[in-house]
Amino acid sequence: MKTLIIFTSVHHQNTEKVAKVIAEELNADLVPIMEAQPGLPASYDLVGFGSGIYFGKHHKTLLRFVETLQPVTQKRAFIFSTCGDGKIHHAALKDKLVTKGFSVVDEFFCRGWDTVGPLKLFGGINKGRPDGNDLAAARAFAQGLKK
Ligand SMILES: Cc1cc2nc3c(=O)[nH]c(=O)nc-3n(C[C@H](O)[C@H](O)[C@H](O)COP(=O)(O)O)c2cc1C
Repeated sequence: MKTLIIFTSVHHQNTEKVAKVIAEELNADLVPIMEAQPGLPASYDLVGFGSGIYFGKHHKTLLRFVETLQPVTQKRAFIFSTCGDGKIHHAALKDKLVTKGFSVVDEFFCRGWDTVGPLKLFGGINKGRPDGNDLAAARAFAQGLKK
């Protein structure tokens, strides 16, 4: 199963930690969004998309990238994220992927260190996250994608 992971991780490299664990488990090619070309997913069986959550959505560079992709036919995809509030915020990215013809087979999220706005005065929330437990959960998620 040839797997590609496209990600961006701009706040504290939180999502990059998750992306690396999933990529390692799946032996996937890990490509930062700034290096991703719209034609890239075509040669893969499974494509992962992930970033931190910004104002309730994945990072705008990832959302915009998905808009540039050529339509596909039921290509398997998965979504992942890290966020401050520990809730799932995948609807915007999922909608765009489904519109392009991807089949979103699974999703993963966990908390990430967040120092946005006034939070930074107190050292932020979720310091140290993703932690070992989060990364173990990410690995288990990736193992599930192999079935
Ligand atoms: C400008 C900004 C906006 C954010 N908006 C949200 C949000 O709407 N919901 C949330 O749960 N976390 C929010 N966060 C927290 C990030 O999603 C969290 O820190 C994430 O782990 C960052 O991932 P990264 O380090 O991979 O970029 C925001 C952070 C920043 C800097």
